[in-house]
Amino acid sequence: MTSAVPSVQMLVITKRFPGVLANDHIDFSANAGEIHALLGENGAGKSTLMNILSGLYHPDQGDIHIHGRRVALRSPRDAISLGIGMVHQHFMLVEPHTVAENVTLGLDEPRFLLNSGQIEQKIAALSEKYGLKVDPEARIWQLSVGEQQRVEIIKMLYRNADILILDEPTAVLTPQEARELFATLKRMAAEGHTIIFITHKLDEVMAISDRITVLRKGRVVSTVFTSATSKQELARMMVGREVFFQVTKSPWRGGQAVLRVEAARALSDKGLPALKGVSFAVHEGEILGVAGVAGNGQRELAEAITGLRPLTSGEVYLCDRRITNQNPRQILDQKVSHIPEDRLGMGLIPNLSLSDNLILKGYFAPPLGRGPFLDQKAIDAHCRELISRFEVMAPGPDSSVKLLSGGNLQRLLLAREISCCPRLMVAVHPTRGLDVGATEAVHKMLLEQREEGAAILLISEDLDELLSLSDRVAVLYEGEIMGIVPAQGAQVEEIGLMMAGTKRARPAEVAA
Ligand SMILES: Nc1ncnc2c1ncn2[C@@H]1O[C@H](COP(=O)(O)OP(=O)(O)O)[C@@H](O)[C@H]1O
Ligand SMILES: [Mg+2]
Repeated sequence: MTSAVPSVQMLVITKRFPGVLANDHIDFSANAGEIHALLGENGAGKSTLMNILSGLYHPDQGDIHIHGRRVALRSPRDAISLGIGMVHQHFMLVEPHTVAENVTLGLDEPRFLLNSGQIEQKIAALSEKYGLKVDPEARIWQLSVGEQQRVEIIKMLYRNADILILDEPTAVLTPQEARELFATLKRMAAEGHTIIFITHKLDEVMAISDRITVLRKGRVVSTVFTSATSKQELARMMVGREVFFQVTKSPWRGGQAVLRVEAARALSDKGLPALKGVSFAVHEGEILGVAGVAGNGQRELAEAITGLRPLTSGEVYLCDRRITNQNPRQILDQKVSHIPEDRLGMGLIPNLSLSDNLILKGYFAPPLGRGPFLDQKAIDAHCRELISRFEVMAPGPDSSVKLLSGGNLQRLLLAREISCCPRLMVAVHPTRGLDVGATEAVHKMLLEQREEGAAILLISEDLDELLSLSDRVAVLYEGEIMGIVPAQGAQVEEIGLMMAGTKRARPAEVAA
Protein backbone atom coordinates (compact mmCIF):
# COMPACT_ATOMS: atom_id res chain seq x y z
CA MET A 1 0.00 0.00 0.00
CA THR A 2 1.54 3.30 -1.03
CA SER A 3 0.15 6.79 -1.11
CA ALA A 4 1.07 9.66 -3.41
CA VAL A 5 2.95 11.61 -0.76
CA PRO A 6 5.55 9.79 1.32
CA SER A 7 4.83 10.03 5.04
CA VAL A 8 8.52 10.66 5.70
CA GLN A 9 10.86 12.47 3.40
CA MET A 10 14.38 13.39 4.45
CA LEU A 11 16.40 15.37 1.94
CA VAL A 12 20.20 15.79 1.80
CA ILE A 13 20.53 15.24 5.53
CA THR A 14 24.07 15.85 6.71
CA LYS A 15 25.32 15.41 10.24
CA ARG A 16 28.89 15.70 11.40
CA PHE A 17 30.32 14.63 14.75
CA PRO A 18 33.87 15.53 15.75
CA GLY A 19 35.99 13.62 13.25
CA VAL A 20 33.09 11.69 11.66
CA LEU A 21 30.67 12.47 8.90
CA ALA A 22 27.86 10.32 10.29
CA ASN A 23 25.28 11.28 7.64
CA ASP A 24 26.50 12.53 4.30
CA HIS A 25 23.78 14.08 2.11
CA ILE A 26 21.24 11.35 2.84
CA ASP A 27 17.94 11.16 0.99
CA PHE A 28 15.44 8.84 2.63
CA SER A 29 11.72 8.40 2.32
CA ALA A 30 9.12 5.99 3.66
CA ASN A 31 5.45 5.50 2.91
CA ALA A 32 2.39 4.88 5.02
CA GLY A 33 1.64 1.17 5.14
CA GLU A 34 5.17 -0.02 4.50
CA ILE A 35 7.86 -1.59 6.61
CA HIS A 36 11.02 0.11 5.53
CA ALA A 37 14.29 -1.39 6.72
CA LEU A 38 17.32 0.78 7.28
CA LEU A 39 20.21 -1.60 6.79
CA GLY A 40 23.90 -1.05 7.37
CA GLU A 41 26.96 -2.15 9.30
CA ASN A 42 27.83 -0.77 12.69
CA GLY A 43 28.71 2.88 12.37
CA ALA A 44 26.99 3.32 9.00
CA GLY A 45 24.89 6.18 10.39
CA LYS A 46 21.50 4.49 10.87
CA SER A 47 20.84 5.54 14.47
CA THR A 48 22.05 9.07 13.75
CA LEU A 49 19.61 9.47 10.85
CA MET A 50 16.68 8.21 12.91
CA ASN A 51 17.69 10.24 15.96
CA ILE A 52 17.38 13.23 13.65
CA LEU A 53 13.92 12.11 12.54
CA SER A 54 12.86 11.68 16.16
CA GLY A 55 14.04 15.15 17.11
CA LEU A 56 16.92 14.04 19.32
CA TYR A 57 19.71 15.34 17.05
CA HIS A 58 19.69 18.33 14.75
CA PRO A 59 21.08 17.95 11.24
CA ASP A 60 23.79 20.33 10.06
CA GLN A 61 21.97 20.50 6.76
CA GLY A 62 18.88 19.08 5.10
CA ASP A 63 15.09 19.20 5.11
CA ILE A 64 12.45 16.97 6.60
CA HIS A 65 8.90 16.66 5.29
CA ILE A 66 6.21 14.78 7.16
CA HIS A 67 3.09 13.89 5.14
CA GLY A 68 4.25 16.38 2.54
CA ARG A 69 4.75 19.30 4.89
CA ARG A 70 8.15 20.72 5.73
CA VAL A 71 8.76 20.58 9.47
CA ALA A 72 11.25 21.76 12.05
CA LEU A 73 12.05 19.14 14.68
CA ARG A 74 13.55 20.96 17.62
CA SER A 75 12.97 18.23 20.18
CA PRO A 76 11.50 14.73 20.60
CA ARG A 77 8.34 16.51 21.73
CA ASP A 78 8.03 18.17 18.31
CA ALA A 79 8.51 14.79 16.64
CA ILE A 80 5.89 13.12 18.81
CA SER A 81 3.37 15.84 18.10
CA LEU A 82 3.89 15.06 14.40
CA GLY A 83 3.23 11.39 15.05
CA ILE A 84 6.86 10.20 15.03
CA GLY A 85 7.82 7.74 17.77
CA MET A 86 11.12 5.94 18.24
CA VAL A 87 11.91 2.83 20.29
CA HIS A 88 15.58 3.16 21.14
CA GLN A 89 18.14 0.39 21.60
CA HIS A 90 18.27 1.26 25.27
CA PHE A 91 14.79 1.57 26.65
CA MET A 92 13.79 4.75 28.39
CA LEU A 93 11.39 3.40 31.00
CA VAL A 94 11.19 4.22 34.68
CA GLU A 95 11.77 0.96 36.54
CA PRO A 96 9.82 1.44 39.78
CA HIS A 97 6.73 2.69 37.94
CA THR A 98 3.92 0.63 36.47
CA VAL A 99 3.34 0.03 32.78
CA ALA A 100 0.37 2.43 32.78
CA GLU A 101 2.39 5.12 34.54
CA ASN A 102 5.22 4.77 32.04
CA VAL A 103 2.85 4.91 29.10
CA THR A 104 1.30 8.18 30.26
CA LEU A 105 4.48 9.72 31.68
CA GLY A 106 5.19 13.18 30.33
CA LEU A 107 1.96 13.41 28.38
CA ASP A 108 0.50 16.84 27.86
CA GLU A 109 -3.08 15.71 28.11
CA PRO A 110 -4.28 16.63 31.58
CA ARG A 111 -4.18 13.33 33.33
CA PHE A 112 -7.04 14.08 35.71
CA LEU A 113 -9.37 13.90 32.71
CA LEU A 114 -8.71 10.22 32.42
CA ASN A 115 -8.93 8.00 35.45
CA SER A 116 -6.53 5.11 35.76
CA GLY A 117 -9.30 2.72 34.72
CA GLN A 118 -9.71 4.51 31.41
CA ILE A 119 -5.95 4.61 30.83
CA GLU A 120 -5.69 0.89 31.46
CA GLN A 121 -8.61 0.30 29.14
CA LYS A 122 -6.92 2.23 26.38
CA ILE A 123 -3.69 0.30 26.92
CA ALA A 124 -5.57 -2.99 26.91
CA ALA A 125 -7.26 -2.03 23.64
CA LEU A 126 -3.93 -1.22 21.97
CA SER A 127 -2.31 -4.35 23.29
CA GLU A 128 -5.24 -6.44 22.06
CA LYS A 129 -5.33 -4.80 18.64
CA TYR A 130 -1.64 -5.27 17.90
CA GLY A 131 -0.86 -8.41 19.85
CA LEU A 132 1.33 -6.62 22.41
CA LYS A 133 0.74 -8.70 25.53
CA VAL A 134 1.51 -6.80 28.71
CA ASP A 135 -0.08 -6.23 32.11
CA PRO A 136 -0.80 -2.48 32.63
CA GLU A 137 -0.45 -2.83 36.39
CA ALA A 138 2.92 -4.59 36.37
CA ARG A 139 5.99 -2.64 37.38
CA ILE A 140 8.74 -2.25 34.79
CA TRP A 141 11.38 -4.08 36.83
CA GLN A 142 9.13 -7.14 36.93
CA LEU A 143 9.02 -7.40 33.14
CA SER A 144 11.25 -9.32 30.74
CA VAL A 145 13.19 -7.34 28.17
CA GLY A 146 10.72 -8.40 25.48
CA GLU A 147 7.79 -7.11 27.56
CA GLN A 148 9.59 -3.82 28.20
CA GLN A 149 9.97 -3.40 24.48
CA ARG A 150 6.21 -3.88 24.07
CA VAL A 151 5.64 -1.15 26.66
CA GLU A 152 7.83 1.20 24.62
CA ILE A 153 5.78 0.44 21.52
CA ILE A 154 2.47 0.89 23.33
CA LYS A 155 3.78 4.16 24.73
CA MET A 156 4.31 5.42 21.18
CA LEU A 157 0.94 4.15 19.96
CA TYR A 158 -0.74 5.76 22.96
CA ARG A 159 0.68 9.05 21.72
CA ASN A 160 -0.89 8.33 18.33
CA ALA A 161 2.44 7.80 16.60
CA ASP A 162 1.76 6.75 13.03
CA ILE A 163 5.45 6.72 12.12
CA LEU A 164 7.23 4.20 14.28
CA ILE A 165 11.01 3.78 14.31
CA LEU A 166 12.61 0.74 15.94
CA ASP A 167 16.39 0.71 16.45
CA GLU A 168 17.75 -2.86 16.27
CA PRO A 169 14.71 -4.19 18.14
CA THR A 170 15.51 -7.89 17.89
CA ALA A 171 18.94 -7.69 19.52
CA VAL A 172 17.37 -8.42 22.90
CA LEU A 173 14.73 -10.95 21.82
CA THR A 174 14.49 -14.72 21.50
CA PRO A 175 13.57 -15.97 18.00
CA GLN A 176 9.95 -16.47 19.11
CA GLU A 177 9.71 -12.98 20.57
CA ALA A 178 11.20 -11.60 17.37
CA ARG A 179 8.53 -13.39 15.37
CA GLU A 180 5.79 -11.98 17.58
CA LEU A 181 7.25 -8.53 17.10
CA PHE A 182 7.27 -9.01 13.34
CA ALA A 183 3.60 -9.98 13.40
CA THR A 184 2.82 -6.84 15.40
CA LEU A 185 4.75 -4.65 12.98
CA LYS A 186 2.97 -6.19 10.02
CA ARG A 187 -0.38 -5.52 11.64
CA MET A 188 0.58 -1.90 12.26
CA ALA A 189 1.74 -1.45 8.68
CA ALA A 190 -1.52 -2.96 7.43
CA GLU A 191 -3.34 -0.34 9.51
CA GLY A 192 -1.47 2.38 7.61
CA HIS A 193 1.38 3.06 9.99
CA THR A 194 4.85 3.73 8.62
CA ILE A 195 7.37 1.37 10.17
CA ILE A 196 11.10 2.09 9.98
CA PHE A 197 13.12 -0.86 11.13
CA ILE A 198 16.85 -0.44 11.79
CA THR A 199 18.97 -3.57 11.58
CA HIS A 200 22.22 -5.04 10.34
CA LYS A 201 20.75 -8.55 10.02
CA LEU A 202 20.10 -9.67 6.48
CA ASP A 203 17.73 -12.51 7.34
CA GLU A 204 15.52 -10.09 9.20
CA VAL A 205 15.20 -7.55 6.42
CA MET A 206 14.37 -10.30 3.98
CA ALA A 207 11.68 -11.64 6.33
CA ILE A 208 9.93 -8.47 7.29
CA SER A 209 10.53 -5.44 5.09
CA ASP A 210 8.79 -4.13 1.98
CA ARG A 211 11.65 -1.85 1.00
CA ILE A 212 15.23 -1.47 2.15
CA THR A 213 17.54 1.50 2.25
CA VAL A 214 21.18 0.48 2.60
CA LEU A 215 23.65 2.85 4.26
CA ARG A 216 27.40 2.57 4.08
CA LYS A 217 29.80 4.98 5.75
CA GLY A 218 27.18 7.67 6.18
CA ARG A 219 25.84 7.51 2.62
CA VAL A 220 22.88 5.88 0.95
CA VAL A 221 24.01 3.06 -1.30
CA SER A 222 20.57 2.30 -2.66
CA THR A 223 16.88 1.86 -1.88
CA VAL A 224 15.42 -1.39 -3.20
CA PHE A 225 12.25 -3.45 -3.05
CA THR A 226 12.78 -6.50 -0.86
CA SER A 227 11.02 -8.70 -3.42
CA ALA A 228 13.57 -7.65 -6.04
CA THR A 229 16.79 -8.23 -4.10
CA SER A 230 18.70 -11.00 -2.32
CA LYS A 231 20.82 -11.45 0.78
CA GLN A 232 23.87 -11.67 -1.42
CA GLU A 233 23.16 -8.37 -3.15
CA LEU A 234 22.34 -6.63 0.13
CA ALA A 235 25.58 -7.85 1.69
CA ARG A 236 27.50 -6.56 -1.27
CA MET A 237 25.87 -3.16 -0.89
CA MET A 238 26.50 -3.11 2.86
CA VAL A 239 30.15 -4.07 2.69
CA GLY A 240 31.11 -2.80 -0.72
CA ARG A 241 32.37 -6.13 -2.00
CA GLU A 242 31.35 -9.72 -2.64
CA VAL A 243 30.64 -11.80 0.47
CA PHE A 244 30.31 -15.53 0.82
CA PHE A 245 28.01 -16.97 3.44
CA GLN A 246 28.70 -20.63 3.13
CA VAL A 247 30.71 -21.97 6.02
CA THR A 248 32.13 -25.34 5.20
CA LYS A 249 33.45 -27.53 7.92
CA SER A 250 34.38 -31.16 8.13
CA PRO A 251 32.48 -33.40 10.56
CA TRP A 252 33.88 -33.66 14.08
CA ARG A 253 36.55 -36.33 14.18
CA GLY A 254 36.09 -37.19 17.82
CA GLY A 255 38.60 -36.64 20.60
CA GLN A 256 39.32 -36.23 24.29
CA ALA A 257 37.52 -33.76 26.52
CA VAL A 258 39.76 -30.69 26.78
CA LEU A 259 37.52 -28.61 29.03
CA ARG A 260 35.23 -30.08 31.62
CA VAL A 261 33.02 -27.88 33.76
CA GLU A 262 31.23 -29.61 36.61
CA ALA A 263 28.35 -28.13 38.60
CA ALA A 264 29.91 -24.69 38.41
CA ARG A 265 28.40 -21.96 40.52
CA ALA A 266 29.45 -18.32 40.55
CA LEU A 267 28.08 -14.94 41.52
CA SER A 268 27.46 -11.90 39.34
CA ASP A 269 29.07 -8.52 39.98
CA LYS A 270 26.00 -7.68 42.05
CA GLY A 271 26.58 -10.73 44.23
CA LEU A 272 23.58 -12.65 42.88
CA PRO A 273 23.80 -16.23 41.61
CA ALA A 274 24.88 -16.02 37.95
CA LEU A 275 25.87 -19.64 37.36
CA LYS A 276 23.68 -22.19 39.10
CA GLY A 277 25.35 -25.55 38.63
CA VAL A 278 26.56 -25.60 35.04
CA SER A 279 28.08 -28.82 33.62
CA PHE A 280 29.40 -29.57 30.14
CA ALA A 281 32.50 -30.64 28.22
CA VAL A 282 34.27 -29.39 25.10
CA HIS A 283 36.41 -31.83 23.14
CA GLU A 284 39.43 -31.68 20.84
CA GLY A 285 38.46 -30.25 17.49
CA GLU A 286 34.99 -29.35 18.71
CA ILE A 287 33.18 -26.03 18.83
CA LEU A 288 30.60 -25.90 21.60
CA GLY A 289 28.32 -22.93 21.04
CA VAL A 290 26.60 -21.24 23.95
CA ALA A 291 23.30 -19.62 23.01
CA GLY A 292 21.15 -17.38 25.14
CA VAL A 293 19.72 -13.92 25.45
CA ALA A 294 22.34 -11.51 26.85
CA GLY A 295 22.75 -11.49 30.60
CA ASN A 296 21.94 -15.11 31.36
CA GLY A 297 25.39 -16.00 32.72
CA GLN A 298 27.43 -16.05 29.52
CA ARG A 299 30.00 -13.52 30.68
CA GLU A 300 30.34 -15.09 34.11
CA LEU A 301 30.86 -18.49 32.52
CA ALA A 302 33.72 -17.27 30.32
CA GLU A 303 35.28 -15.47 33.26
CA ALA A 304 34.99 -18.45 35.56
CA ILE A 305 36.81 -20.66 33.06
CA THR A 306 39.60 -18.16 32.41
CA GLY A 307 40.24 -17.43 36.07
CA LEU A 308 38.73 -13.97 36.11
CA ARG A 309 35.83 -14.86 38.39
CA PRO A 310 35.90 -17.26 41.33
CA LEU A 311 33.65 -20.30 41.40
CA THR A 312 31.75 -20.58 44.65
CA SER A 313 31.45 -24.32 44.07
CA GLY A 314 32.00 -26.86 41.32
CA GLU A 315 35.11 -27.72 39.31
CA VAL A 316 36.86 -26.86 36.06
CA TYR A 317 39.26 -29.36 34.45
CA LEU A 318 41.63 -28.78 31.56
CA CYS A 319 42.66 -32.11 30.04
CA ASP A 320 41.83 -33.78 33.36
CA ARG A 321 43.93 -31.34 35.37
CA ARG A 322 41.99 -29.36 37.91
CA ILE A 323 42.25 -25.63 37.21
CA THR A 324 39.38 -24.47 39.41
CA ASN A 325 40.07 -20.98 40.76
CA GLN A 326 43.63 -20.78 39.47
CA ASN A 327 44.61 -17.24 38.54
CA PRO A 328 44.35 -16.06 34.92
CA ARG A 329 48.12 -16.20 34.34
CA GLN A 330 48.29 -19.83 35.49
CA ILE A 331 45.36 -20.77 33.29
CA LEU A 332 46.56 -18.94 30.16
CA ASP A 333 49.99 -20.56 30.58
CA GLN A 334 48.30 -23.90 29.95
CA LYS A 335 47.47 -22.89 26.40
CA VAL A 336 44.10 -21.41 27.04
CA SER A 337 43.24 -18.38 24.97
CA HIS A 338 40.50 -15.87 25.56
CA ILE A 339 38.71 -13.54 23.18
CA PRO A 340 36.93 -11.36 25.72
CA GLU A 341 33.68 -9.50 25.20
CA ASP A 342 35.34 -6.15 25.75
CA ARG A 343 38.19 -6.00 23.25
CA LEU A 344 39.68 -2.70 24.27
CA GLY A 345 39.09 -3.01 27.99
CA MET A 346 40.32 -6.51 28.63
CA GLY A 347 41.83 -7.72 25.39
CA LEU A 348 44.12 -5.01 24.12
CA ILE A 349 45.85 -1.96 25.55
CA PRO A 350 44.95 1.05 23.39
CA ASN A 351 47.99 3.18 24.19
CA LEU A 352 50.51 0.50 23.29
CA SER A 353 51.71 -0.35 19.81
CA LEU A 354 50.57 -3.33 17.79
CA SER A 355 53.73 -5.23 18.57
CA ASP A 356 53.55 -4.54 22.32
CA ASN A 357 49.99 -5.83 22.27
CA LEU A 358 50.96 -8.88 20.28
CA ILE A 359 53.63 -9.93 22.76
CA LEU A 360 51.69 -9.06 25.92
CA LYS A 361 51.24 -12.69 26.69
CA GLY A 362 54.54 -14.06 25.48
CA TYR A 363 57.17 -11.55 26.57
CA PHE A 364 58.52 -13.58 29.43
CA ALA A 365 59.37 -16.74 27.52
CA PRO A 366 61.78 -17.67 24.74
CA PRO A 367 62.08 -17.01 21.89
CA LEU A 368 60.89 -13.44 22.54
CA GLY A 369 62.35 -12.92 25.99
CA ARG A 370 65.43 -14.27 27.73
CA GLY A 371 65.57 -13.65 31.43
CA PRO A 372 64.91 -9.98 31.98
CA PHE A 373 65.66 -9.02 28.36
CA LEU A 374 63.50 -8.84 25.27
CA ASP A 375 64.87 -9.92 21.91
CA GLN A 376 63.75 -6.95 19.80
CA LYS A 377 64.66 -8.56 16.49
CA ALA A 378 62.72 -11.70 17.22
CA ILE A 379 59.75 -9.61 18.37
CA ASP A 380 59.74 -7.53 15.18
CA ALA A 381 59.86 -10.57 12.95
CA HIS A 382 57.15 -12.32 14.98
CA CYS A 383 54.84 -9.30 14.79
CA ARG A 384 55.32 -8.66 11.10
CA GLU A 385 54.52 -12.28 10.44
CA LEU A 386 51.30 -12.13 12.48
CA ILE A 387 50.21 -8.81 10.99
CA SER A 388 50.53 -10.14 7.48
CA ARG A 389 49.14 -13.60 8.21
CA PHE A 390 46.04 -12.21 9.88
CA GLU A 391 45.73 -9.32 7.44
CA VAL A 392 45.67 -6.62 10.10
CA MET A 393 45.39 -3.35 8.20
CA ALA A 394 47.84 -1.06 9.98
CA PRO A 395 50.81 1.07 8.97
CA GLY A 396 53.21 -1.19 10.89
CA PRO A 397 54.05 -2.95 14.16
CA ASP A 398 54.86 0.36 15.84
CA SER A 399 51.56 2.10 15.20
CA SER A 400 49.16 2.57 18.07
CA VAL A 401 46.32 0.12 18.58
CA LYS A 402 43.76 2.79 19.36
CA LEU A 403 43.77 3.84 15.70
CA LEU A 404 42.53 0.47 14.46
CA SER A 405 38.95 -0.17 13.33
CA GLY A 406 36.81 -2.76 15.11
CA GLY A 407 37.47 -5.45 12.54
CA ASN A 408 41.21 -4.91 12.70
CA LEU A 409 41.23 -4.90 16.48
CA GLN A 410 39.54 -8.26 16.44
CA ARG A 411 42.01 -9.64 13.90
CA LEU A 412 44.88 -8.44 16.07
CA LEU A 413 43.38 -10.02 19.15
CA LEU A 414 42.79 -13.29 17.32
CA ALA A 415 46.31 -13.17 15.91
CA ARG A 416 47.73 -13.01 19.41
CA GLU A 417 45.39 -15.58 20.91
CA ILE A 418 45.81 -18.07 18.07
CA SER A 419 49.57 -17.70 17.81
CA CYS A 420 49.99 -19.35 21.21
CA CYS A 421 48.54 -22.58 19.68
CA PRO A 422 45.68 -22.84 22.14
CA ARG A 423 44.31 -26.16 23.34
CA LEU A 424 41.24 -24.33 24.51
CA MET A 425 39.80 -21.14 23.15
CA VAL A 426 37.09 -19.21 24.95
CA ALA A 427 35.59 -16.81 22.41
CA VAL A 428 32.98 -14.35 23.66
CA HIS A 429 30.94 -12.53 20.98
CA PRO A 430 33.92 -12.68 18.63
CA THR A 431 32.10 -11.00 15.75
CA ARG A 432 29.93 -8.51 17.62
CA GLY A 433 30.06 -5.12 15.91
CA LEU A 434 32.10 -6.40 12.96
CA ASP A 435 31.15 -5.89 9.36
CA VAL A 436 30.26 -8.85 7.20
CA GLY A 437 33.75 -9.08 5.73
CA ALA A 438 35.56 -9.08 9.08
CA THR A 439 33.00 -11.54 10.45
CA GLU A 440 33.81 -13.91 7.63
CA ALA A 441 37.53 -13.68 8.45
CA VAL A 442 36.95 -14.38 12.13
CA HIS A 443 34.78 -17.40 11.31
CA LYS A 444 37.52 -18.76 9.10
CA MET A 445 40.11 -18.36 11.85
CA LEU A 446 37.93 -20.15 14.38
CA LEU A 447 37.30 -23.05 12.02
CA GLU A 448 41.03 -23.31 11.31
CA GLN A 449 41.67 -23.64 15.03
CA ARG A 450 39.04 -26.34 15.18
CA GLU A 451 40.80 -28.17 12.34
CA GLU A 452 44.04 -27.87 14.31
CA GLY A 453 42.35 -29.72 17.15
CA ALA A 454 41.63 -26.87 19.53
CA ALA A 455 38.52 -27.09 21.69
CA ILE A 456 36.48 -23.92 21.32
CA LEU A 457 33.81 -22.54 23.59
CA LEU A 458 31.94 -20.04 21.44
CA ILE A 459 29.60 -17.66 23.24
CA SER A 460 27.40 -15.64 20.91
CA GLU A 461 24.00 -14.02 20.65
CA ASP A 462 23.86 -14.68 16.95
CA LEU A 463 22.00 -17.94 16.46
CA ASP A 464 22.91 -18.22 12.78
CA GLU A 465 26.57 -17.89 13.67
CA LEU A 466 26.28 -20.50 16.42
CA LEU A 467 24.46 -22.99 14.25
CA SER A 468 26.84 -22.68 11.33
CA LEU A 469 30.10 -22.87 13.33
CA SER A 470 29.31 -25.12 16.27
CA ASP A 471 29.27 -28.88 16.56
CA ARG A 472 26.90 -28.70 19.50
CA VAL A 473 24.92 -25.85 21.01
CA ALA A 474 24.22 -25.40 24.72
CA VAL A 475 21.51 -22.98 25.78
CA LEU A 476 22.04 -20.88 28.88
CA TYR A 477 19.08 -19.39 30.72
CA GLU A 478 19.34 -17.66 34.09
CA GLY A 479 22.61 -19.39 34.87
CA GLU A 480 21.48 -22.89 33.96
CA ILE A 481 21.94 -25.02 30.90
CA MET A 482 18.50 -25.77 29.47
CA GLY A 483 19.85 -28.36 27.06
CA ILE A 484 22.65 -29.26 24.66
CA VAL A 485 21.80 -30.19 21.08
CA PRO A 486 23.83 -31.13 17.99
CA ALA A 487 24.06 -28.06 15.75
CA GLN A 488 23.37 -30.01 12.62
CA GLY A 489 19.63 -30.35 12.18
CA ALA A 490 18.93 -28.30 15.31
CA GLN A 491 15.46 -26.77 15.43
CA VAL A 492 15.56 -23.01 15.92
CA GLU A 493 12.13 -23.42 17.55
CA GLU A 494 13.50 -25.72 20.21
CA ILE A 495 16.53 -23.52 20.88
CA GLY A 496 14.26 -20.48 21.12
CA LEU A 497 12.10 -22.21 23.72
CA MET A 498 15.19 -23.08 25.74
CA MET A 499 16.38 -19.47 25.46
CA ALA A 500 13.08 -18.51 27.07
CA GLY A 501 13.60 -20.95 29.93
CA THR A 502 12.02 -24.23 28.86
CA LYS A 503 14.17 -27.19 29.82
CA ARG A 504 14.72 -29.73 27.10
CA ALA A 505 12.27 -32.62 27.48
CA ARG A 506 14.87 -35.30 26.93
CA PRO A 507 17.57 -35.30 29.61
CA ALA A 508 20.36 -32.95 28.53
CA GLU A 509 23.01 -35.01 26.87
CA VAL A 510 26.03 -34.84 29.11
CA ALA A 511 29.15 -35.41 27.10
CA ALA A 512 31.63 -37.88 28.48
N1 LIG B 1 26.70 11.35 19.79
C1 LIG B 1 27.76 11.08 19.01
N2 LIG B 1 28.93 11.74 19.16
C2 LIG B 1 29.98 11.48 18.35
N3 LIG B 1 29.99 10.56 17.37
C3 LIG B 1 28.85 9.86 17.18
C4 LIG B 1 27.68 10.08 17.98
N4 LIG B 1 26.70 9.25 17.55
C5 LIG B 1 27.24 8.54 16.53
N5 LIG B 1 28.52 8.92 16.30
C6 LIG B 1 29.39 8.39 15.24
O1 LIG B 1 28.71 8.51 14.02
C7 LIG B 1 28.90 7.35 13.21
C8 LIG B 1 27.57 6.71 12.90
O2 LIG B 1 27.04 6.17 14.09
P1 LIG B 1 25.59 5.54 14.22
O3 LIG B 1 24.59 6.45 13.59
O4 LIG B 1 25.37 5.20 15.65
O5 LIG B 1 25.74 4.24 13.34
P2 LIG B 1 24.83 2.90 13.28
O6 LIG B 1 23.58 3.17 14.06
O7 LIG B 1 24.60 2.67 11.84
O8 LIG B 1 25.66 1.82 13.89
C9 LIG B 1 29.85 6.45 13.97
O9 LIG B 1 31.14 6.68 13.52
C10 LIG B 1 29.66 6.92 15.40
O10 LIG B 1 30.85 6.68 16.14
MG1 LIG C 1 22.91 2.17 15.73
